[in-house]
Amino acid sequence: MKEKKTLKNILKQKFSDQNIKIEEKLIPRAYELFGSVAIVDMSNFEHQKLLKQKNAKEIKKTIADALEETNRSIKTILIKKDKLEGEFRTGGYEVISGKDTVCTYRENNCAFDFDIAKTYFSTKLGNERRVLAESVQKGEKILCAFAGVCPFPIVIAKNKEVRITAVEKNPYCKKYSLANIKKNKQEDKINFHCDGIAEFLSKEKHKYNRILMPAPKINHKFIDLMFDYLDLDNKKKGLIDYYCFCKIDKDTDEVKETRKMLSEKIKDKNLNCSFKNIRKCGNAAPYQYRIHIEIVVKRKKE
Ligand SMILES: C[S@@+](CC[C@H](N)C(=O)[O-])C[C@H]1O[C@@H](n2cnc3c(N)ncnc32)[C@H](O)[C@@H]1O
Repeated sequence: MKEKKTLKNILKQKFSDQNIKIEEKLIPRAYELFGSVAIVDMSNFEHQKLLKQKNAKEIKKTIADALEETNRSIKTILIKKDKLEGEFRTGGYEVISGKDTVCTYRENNCAFDFDIAKTYFSTKLGNERRVLAESVQKGEKILCAFAGVCPFPIVIAKNKEVRITAVEKNPYCKKYSLANIKKNKQEDKINFHCDGIAEFLSKEKHKYNRILMPAPKINHKFIDLMFDYLDLDNKKKGLIDYYCFCKIDKDTDEVKETRKMLSEKIKDKNLNCSFKNIRKCGNAAPYQYRIHIEIVVKRKKE
């Protein structure tokens, strides 16, 4: 029977034709596509060893040829060598074919331009952006911290009558955020600030109905700051969309620990809080989930 033309099968054949010995489990079987830029994730330990072998150059060339054969629209091919790192959560990529790392990605009737080597973007969060946009009410004033190239603000603004302030520290995100806001015709609804969130808030006079925190690795460091920027006057409730990574298995439930940590943070403030819409919205590793928690905040009765 003829083998299916999957990336893995094409690669298997090419490696064998070129007499390149490679363990079957290390043959890449998938890639992520951002417009015309394809990324092959080879950031795990065993792939790293493979990429340090003498014949690494041939291996990379074979991968590039196979991908181009699999999808003719691919113009640039990157190998992801390191996990996303650093303050700006960008990856260590090596260009193995082409050179342009700027791409266009479409989701939720929006289009985003960004440089995948210099700015963070996850295609896996498209569904979460849609779900979150659905939960937003007409008229909300929203602060989006850690906005990246503005996918959350743009998907929300495109679907709801709201005002959004987006704050992001990475200077490379500024160019793409402003361009994306314009491209999606949301200039009247979104205000972008290139600044650290703490620095921005230290100057901020406005209060918000909802604060988005789409940075699961660092949110715990900034959550303390956010409560003062919720508009809780006249018995209004304020919402914080908090994301975190939690291990959940038969022995561990880090969601419980996160709720405890959040309750502790609020203990000395004159506030009541409850936790709603707790949902898994992706996997980071086996049993390690991206979790959304909606923190509902109200002032305590005097
Ligand atoms: C996980 S990414 C999320 C980006 C975006 N919300 C998205 O979903 O595509 C976190 C973002 O926070 C930004 N960041 C890190 N520290 C920051 C800070 N102190 N103030 C503002 N932005 C920050 C990073 O540059 C990065 O773009």
